[in-house]
Parts: sequence; C-alpha cells; structure tokens
Amino acid sequence: MLLRKCCSARVDARRFCAAFQRSRLYRILPHEIGKLVRRKPKIASGWRTDNLKWTFDILALNVLFMNTAKILADKFRGNHTVRHLCFLIMLAGLSASWLPAQTNDSVTVLKITADQVAAKVSPKLYGLMTEEINYSYDGGLYAELVRNRTFKWNPSNAVYWQLVQDGGGAGSMSLDTNQPLNSALTTSLKLEVSKAGRKERVGIANDGFWGIPVKPKTKYRASFYAKADKGFSGPLTVEIVSSNGATVFASAQVRRIGGEWKKYEVTLTAGKAAPSKENRLVITASKPGTIWFSLVSLFPPTFNDRPNGNRPDIMQILADMHPAFLRFPGGNYVEGNTFATRFDWKKTIGDISQRPGHLDDGWRYWSTDGMGLLEFLEWCEDLKMQPVLAVYAGYSMRQGAVTNELDFCVQEALDEIEYVTGGRSTKWGGQRAKDGHPAPLKLEFVEIGNEDNLGTGWRTYDLRFAKFYDAIKAKYPNLKIISTAPTTDTRHMVTSRTPDVIDDHFYRNSMQMQSDTHHYDNYDRSGPKIFVGEWATREGRPTPNMNAALGDAAWMTGMERNSDIVIMSCYAPLFVNVNPGGMQWPTDLIGYDALTSYGSPAYYAQKMFNLNHGDVVLPVVSENLPTREWQPPAGRGGGPAQAPRQVPTLFFNATRDNKTGTVFLKVVNSAGAAQNVRVEINGAANIASTGEAVVMSASAPEDTNSITEPAKLAPVTTKVDGLGANFTRTFPPYSITVLRLNSK
Ligand code: AHR
Repeated sequence: MLLRKCCSARVDARRFCAAFQRSRLYRILPHEIGKLVRRKPKIASGWRTDNLKWTFDILALNVLFMNTAKILADKFRGNHTVRHLCFLIMLAGLSASWLPAQTNDSVTVLKITADQVAAKVSPKLYGLMTEEINYSYDGGLYAELVRNRTFKWNPSNAVYWQLVQDGGGAGSMSLDTNQPLNSALTTSLKLEVSKAGRKERVGIANDGFWGIPVKPKTKYRASFYAKADKGFSGPLTVEIVSSNGATVFASAQVRRIGGEWKKYEVTLTAGKAAPSKENRLVITASKPGTIWFSLVSLFPPTFNDRPNGNRPDIMQILADMHPAFLRFPGGNYVEGNTFATRFDWKKTIGDISQRPGHLDDGWRYWSTDGMGLLEFLEWCEDLKMQPVLAVYAGYSMRQGAVTNELDFCVQEALDEIEYVTGGRSTKWGGQRAKDGHPAPLKLEFVEIGNEDNLGTGWRTYDLRFAKFYDAIKAKYPNLKIISTAPTTDTRHMVTSRTPDVIDDHFYRNSMQMQSDTHHYDNYDRSGPKIFVGEWATREGRPTPNMNAALGDAAWMTGMERNSDIVIMSCYAPLFVNVNPGGMQWPTDLIGYDALTSYGSPAYYAQKMFNLNHGDVVLPVVSENLPTREWQPPAGRGGGPAQAPRQVPTLFFNATRDNKTGTVFLKVVNSAGAAQNVRVEINGAANIASTGEAVVMSASAPEDTNSITEPAKLAPVTTKVDGLGANFTRTFPPYSITVLRLNSK
C-alpha cells in the first residue's frame, strides 16, 4: 500500500534532487554530505564523473539517505506523499546497511601498523632552495627599495630613474663613467641643475621595484654617495613622495654636499599614512649646480633589524614553514651563462659599496649582489637553517665547461668553504670576521654545480666532480658532497667517485606527480642518499593553484615515506614578484609585490607536511584504493604514445612522533568528490577518540591564492572526535588532511 502510494507519486530521483536543492536543506546537513548533494548531475549519473572510478562507502551513503529523508520528512510534515517517499528512502537506507559483506569490502581501508617502523623520517627533509630569479632578492626578499641603485643596470640609460623638474626648475641627468665611486661602482648619475629656487626644485627620483612601499609610522633609512662641483654646496632634500606628487610621506635634508665622494644618510619617518606603494624616492636641489650620485639606497625596517637585511613579511612566511636548510645560490644563478657572469662569491662580500654586482644573464636582469654570501648565511642563522652551499663547478650554461680554469675554480670553492667554516685565524674566516661575522658557521653539505647532466655539462662532469670531490674531502673529510648529475638520467651519472648525495629535480604537472609517488620505493638503500633539490607541480601562475598543491602533497607522501633515502628536499622556485615583468619562471611558491606577500596553496601544503611528520614512518597498507584513468603525455619530440594508466585519487602515509606518541595520518584526496576511508590502527596503545584535523580543501582544482586574495585557501585546524583504533572518516573533495591522533 505504502509502496503503491509512493510509486503513484511519480517522484523520480532527478526531481527529488532538484526539490531538495531548491529547499536548500543541504545547508543544514554536515558539510561533506552537503557538498555531495550539491553535485546533482553526478547523483543523477550514478556518481561517475571525469573518468573517476569511485569506490563509495555504502555506509556513508546510507547515512546520507537516512539523514536526508528525515530532514525532508520533518520539513514536509503536512504532505503525505512526500512523507511516504521519505519513509521509503529511510527504509532503503536501512536495508542497504544489511547488504552482504561484499558491498562493504569496496570501502577504502588504510591499515596502519603502529608498533613497527618502516623508516626514519629525515629531520632535514624539508628545506628551501633559492636563487636570483623572478626578482627573488633585488625586488624581493632583500629589503632594498631602490631599483638600479648603482646605475649599472643599463650602460646607456638611467633606467628606473626619472628627472624631476618642479615649479619651473630645469636641469638634466645622465650616466657618467668619468666619476666612478671606486673600482666596483664605476658609473655615477650626474645631475646638472640649470634653474632652481625655493619652489623650483630639480632632482632625481626612483620608483623602486614596481613602487616604493609606505607603511604608517615606519622609519626608512635613506643613504647615498654624492659629490658636487664647485658651484654647489647643498642642500639636498630627500623625500618619499606619492607618484602623482600630491603627498609627501616623509622628508629630510642633507645640508652640505662636498667636492669629494662621501656617504650621506638620513632617516625618513612616515606618519599616519595608509599603506601604499605608488610612491617614489625623490632627491632634489633648490640651487643650480652639478651633483654626482652613487649607490642610492632606501631601506625599510628589516627582519631582526639586520643592516642590509631582509623583508620581515617574507621572512615570517618562511619562518612559519620551519625549514631545515637553505640551498643557495642556485640553480642556474650559480652557473651563469658565462664564466664572467657566474656567482662570483668573492665579489659579493664586504661593504655593499665594494660589490660591483653582475648581470644575472640566466634570468636576464641586474643583480646588485646586495644578497651576498654572508647575507645568505645570516638568512640561515635567522631562520635556524643549515646552509647547503652550491659551488661553481667550472661550467656555465652558454659557455660550457671552463676546464682550463678548473684548478682556479676548485681553489675558489675551498676558499668559499673556509669563508663559511674557518676560524678567525684562517685567511677567509678572518675575512668573514672582518665582514661582521666572527663565529664560524656549521656546514655539512657542499653541492658541486647545478644540473650538470644538462647542456654539454655531462661530457666533463665526472672529471670536474672528481677534482672538487678529492680536494674538498682532503681538506674537509666530514663534508658531504652532492652530485648534480641526477639518478633520473642514468646515462650521465657520476661514476669515478661515489657522491654522498645525489640531487634529483622534478618539474611536472599534477597528474605526473600523482602517478609517480612510488618513485623512490625501490631505490637501492645502500647507495648515495637523495636530495630532491628542485621539485614543483607546475600548475598555476604566478603561484601554484590547488591542483598543483594536490600533486605536491601526493608527491610529498612518497618522499616522506622514503625519507630514509630521500634525506632532503626543496621546492623551486621559491619566490616571485607578481608584477608584470617580475616573473621569468611560472609557478613559484611565494608571491609578493612591494607592499604585501602571500603563500600559495602549495606553500601551505608544504607547511602542513613539515610541521607534522614526527620521527618515524609507520607501515600502511591500503585496500580498495580509488583510481582514475590517466593518459600520460607522449614523450618529448613526439615519442611513442604510452598506454593509459590507473592512478590513485587518494594518497596517504603515516608517521609518528616518538616523544609524544602522536600519529600523523596524511591523506590527499585529489578527486572532485568526497571519499570515505576506514582507518584501522594496529599495535598502538589506546588511540584517543579525540584528536585534531588540519585540512586544506578547495571547491575547484583551479582555486588559488593571490596578492588580492592571499589566504583564500589555507589549512584549518579543528578538534575532532570519533577517532580511535578503528574509525571511518570522510575526506572532502580536493583536499589535503593531516590527522593528529593521540596515543596514550
Ligand atoms: O628553478 C628554476 C631553474 O630550474 C633552476 O635555476 C634550474 O636549476 C632548473 O633548471
């Protein structure tokens, strides 16, 4: 009778879902269930979408059915047809829970053995990789605000400088190589003022790296070298002014300018101004005459108040990741296109007025080398990171190997190591002390070159590596030497010596990352350790989107599981200035402009992993892992097509902190639907029913953060219950989850 009534109501599933959606009742269902129900077309088409073979937890489906039915029944109290229909749905849900075990077997299960250790987690697993790319230092982390401060960016033009002629004042400016400050800074800026007065001001202005940031109640240190001809003795006015000239945010005067080069410094203090970046540094004269300028600089407050230091906001983003090490100074930047444009470390130390700077020809802009060797080391100290020092290995990308200079290059590397680690009595340790850092620094790893399997590097790398290896080991037997001929290019690996560590690089799309999470599972455990010295899922620009973060997170489950052999890893590139023209390499972890900065979803994924990995890897086996079909791209140059593959849509690992007993279960759901997983933990004493979940999820894989929406996606930590040695949990679509399970 009931059945007949319901059938006669002719409410089909599609209309039912539509009615349900219109009623907006899903809002009061639990979050995940609501998300499922909102996907009406997927319900109608039997829960299949975008090639996804999805194993659905029948129990959760029952709960969904029964909850939905109850809510509808309550809502439509007066409508018998709908109430009957609801009753039928409830019955269906209930009876489904009595379905034979076979249905239940398709539930995804993760079985964790908590009283066994599969591997140790390397305490150095997550670090940072950095080089001058995408305006990482000049126009990025290095806090200098003046662009082209030494006038060497362009030999014929004072680029990023403008002539100021206010109120009828007149003059001209030009580059001058006849008035060098010293042998390092050979070009100066000549300002000739022909007409000036109290209101007729003439001068020079710099608009920084896409603006000069002004923040309220902030002190800026402006400095410059200057000299004047006989007809001019001052004063000069130094100001931070809005680009339209309407607002002077801060102002100071240098009273006298002499006839010889001298450094002048003033403090500029901004008042209550709202934060802005459409501003310039302006230096003006109000009397006629000729003035030369060199090394014009403007610094805001820096992290830890270091002179010549770093931007606090970006440093804080990095500090929050708790990175273990810093690989520097490259990347391509260590090699340069030519021997002359390599990272020539000896030209990057000492007072900044003694640093000539160099063309970063790999990434095509001028580097002041304000971020020099000592600044890299201080950056390490500030964030308690170990330096991983990459030395120039006698190979530049365009020029090729400079084997004639090899002995010189080896000596340069030995000197560099001495600069980092040597006592004050050593030549280069003494130089470091003179430069302001008396204490030697701890160094464990030295990397020989960068990607030396590429270009023509592989032809000579074995020979070059052996030279460096022998010389470094002879003087520093405890140092570990990293080869940059990767294990992924077996034809070009080093054979004449056994490197302590090999640097592998991976730049891929999300599916490629997801399909290769077992990359290191079967690596030889008795060979060299692995340093994944550059890796990234490259989807999204300038910074990675959620799909990239999912690829990264899947990849990290694999690195972490294998971190007995993968002892270190670092994403690259780390930074990007998001302004037009700021980016040479798309998909970079952290973005910024002159005023603000943000972490991408991939940044947050790394932070989630690094803050939650404990000391040991626990064995985990899975059952009924959901998969999707994926067609790998054809090889480069149209290589043979590969067969389609089944790739999981769920990735996981489990680790434990031995001190606290906390078990970290990481689950990455790369599918566009929620997935239910039953977790079974064996061998752990009393897993508490309450714990914490750190979850980052998105409603679409393209979702991302940006300079205008800096934290659209970020992990959220909540207390959870219902945990234990055996529990089922729903992982939201497009999500990364860390479950912190407390064991007593
Ligand atoms: O990370 C960007 C570049 O990629 C690095 O400079 C180089 O090592 C790699 O090819």
